[in-house]
Amino acid sequence: MDKYVIKGGIPLHGEIVVSGAKNAAVALVAATILCDEPCILENVPEISDISICIKILKEMGADVKILGKNTVEFDTTHMTSPVVPYELARSMRASSYFLGTLLGRFHEAYVPLPGGCDLGDRPIDQHLKAFACLGADYAIESGTVHLKTDALIGNQIYFDFITVGATINAIFAAVKTKGLTIIENAAKEPHIVDLANFLNSMGADIRGAGTDVIKIRGIEYLKGITYAIIPDQIEAGTYMVAAAATKGNVLIKNVIPKHLESITAKLRKVGVTVEEFDESIRVSVDGPIMKTSLKTMPHPGFPTDMQPQFSTLLTLAYGTSIVTDDIFDNRFRYVAELRRMGADISVDGTVAVIQGVGKLTGAPVKATDLRAGAALVIAGLAAEGITEIDDIYHIERGYETIDEKLRALGADIKRVYYPESIAMTS
Ligand code: EPZ
Repeated sequence: MDKYVIKGGIPLHGEIVVSGAKNAAVALVAATILCDEPCILENVPEISDISICIKILKEMGADVKILGKNTVEFDTTHMTSPVVPYELARSMRASSYFLGTLLGRFHEAYVPLPGGCDLGDRPIDQHLKAFACLGADYAIESGTVHLKTDALIGNQIYFDFITVGATINAIFAAVKTKGLTIIENAAKEPHIVDLANFLNSMGADIRGAGTDVIKIRGIEYLKGITYAIIPDQIEAGTYMVAAAATKGNVLIKNVIPKHLESITAKLRKVGVTVEEFDESIRVSVDGPIMKTSLKTMPHPGFPTDMQPQFSTLLTLAYGTSIVTDDIFDNRFRYVAELRRMGADISVDGTVAVIQGVGKLTGAPVKATDLRAGAALVIAGLAAEGITEIDDIYHIERGYETIDEKLRALGADIKRVYYPESIAMTS
């Protein structure tokens, strides 16, 4: 029961280095199952989602060696089991990636229905549709998805709507499948391009990643390589917004500014100064934060994974902002927590109306999911007084040493151990 305790009101100043992208890393770690030789990933973030992925691989017989900070060697060549254990799969949405990789490698997979952030209903019908298009049979037995096929055959897969996870799973299943697979209405997120680059460096033939049509010609063998994961677009965006919310001046290093364009554009719109360099970005504020309207969209639109953080900034703005986020059913669960800090937000379904209040005040709050937790950290940094954030395990699923990184920028944030009994009465 650890908490972050933040004494707010200190503008963030200095430099911060962004870690490897969580949503790329979970895909690339799962992808090592398809590699026919040991391979090395660099810039692997030290976050709990990755620890779980590594545990899953080890449970299935893979050798995983930590070679140094953020560098990990994966040897999956001796793996024999296509079964992901329930206890590990249930805590992480990305466990669904083992469906595609195990099917591609063993032509069979047993993967418990995935858990992960509670953002509303999160079906996997499009994933299953993709596997079926390539010739796999599926059944859901006692909460576990069972995929099986004698042979996969390249085919056309048309997604009914844009889905990151199903696009990635379709790539996994197709990469070693005979013939040509064409994925239409594919997601275009940076981590999909990173995954294609990783697999292509091993010898795969994937074209069009980053557009809405991806063509994959199946190959037989993937060779071992060393590959560095891209920087985390959402971690970078979170620190950009934290700098703005505290009226600070922060140089955010190890970023790809192109991946941050939608966030940069919105920050500029509300009056924040953003300077772009080759691999870094500076965020500073010397005037008021202004209202705006915002709608989340698949990449290259404004990411849903930045909505809670940006909405938190808008609570500090002049005027009324409207935020629409309908990618998931329920991405406004953090609003009740922000209200405890003085925010004036009303939510109707997938639309939030945020009346800027100028300042927030510290309060005890609870992270309801990963990005909601990041939003509360930002709120705590900007607020007057002390904010205690509970359930920080959500935050640590996706942010490497967030407390240390923020302390280096001058923030007063501590990670405090609270025994259960104190937590119950506090
Ligand atoms: C990925 O989730 C990310 N997770 C999420 O990151 C992110 O919010 C999301 O993409 C959207 O960008 C990982 O990369 C591990 P989707 P994913 O499939 O793949 C519906 C974070 O904070 N859908 O693009 O699960 C779905 O319910 C997180 O880092 C179906 O209905 O997202 C949602 O409404 C959380 N059927 C929409 O599509 C399906 O078969 C988009 O989901 C698949 C999806």
